Amino acid sequence: MLALDLADLDATLRLAAALAPHLAAGDMVALDGTLGAGKTEFARALLRARLGDPAIDVPSPTFTLVQLYDDPTGTVFWHFDLYRLKDPDEVLELGWDDSEDGVRLVEWPDRLGDLTPQSRLVVRIEAGDGDGARRATLSGHGMWVQRLADLRLQLGPASLASS
Ligand SMILES: Nc1ncnc2c1ncn2[C@@H]1O[C@H](COP(=O)(O)OP(=O)(O)O)[C@@H](O)[C@H]1O
Ligand SMILES: [Mg+2]
Repeated sequence: MLALDLADLDATLRLAAALAPHLAAGDMVALDGTLGAGKTEFARALLRARLGDPAIDVPSPTFTLVQLYDDPTGTVFWHFDLYRLKDPDEVLELGWDDSEDGVRLVEWPDRLGDLTPQSRLVVRIEAGDGDGARRATLSGHGMWVQRLADLRLQLGPASLASS
C-alpha cells in the first residue's frame, strides 16, 4: 500500500501522469472514492499524459458510461463510469470482455461485483486536510502487489513535486 497526501489538484494530476507510462494492455486501474473525490480528474490527467496531448477532450463518462481512447502505441484505454449500473451484467453490454485487451480505468468499480478482476491497482481518493487537499491510497491486488512495490519510487512523494 502506498498512501500519498495530495496538497492540491495539481498534485493529483501529477500522480496520474506519473502512473500513465507504467500501464500496459490487460491492466485495470480501479478508481475508488465518493462523488467529487477526483476520480475523473485523475483519469483525465492519466489519459492526457499517455496520449501525449494535454489538450485532448476527456469528458466524464457519467452518461455514456464508457469512453475509448487509442494511445500512440495502439493500446486502447477504456474509461468506465459505472455509477449508474444497476446490475454488474450491464457492463457486458458496454464491451467489458473486449476491454480486457486494453487498459481499464474504472470509476465506481464496486459496481462490478463478481466481475471484478483479481489483478488490479486500486487508487482510492479521499478528502484530505484542507480545501482542495486529497489523500490517495494505492493498493495492489494479484500481480499488482509486486508491480506497485516496484513503482514505489516513481509514484512516491517525489512524483508530486512541481517541476
Ligand atoms: N486535489 C484534488 N484532486 C482532485 N480533484 C480536486 C482536487 N482539489 C479539488 N478538486 C476538484 O474536485 C472535483 C473532482 O471532480 P471529479 O474528478 O469529477 O470527481 P469524481 O469523478 O470523483 O466524482 C473537481 O471539480 C476538481 O477540480
Ligand atoms: Mg467521475
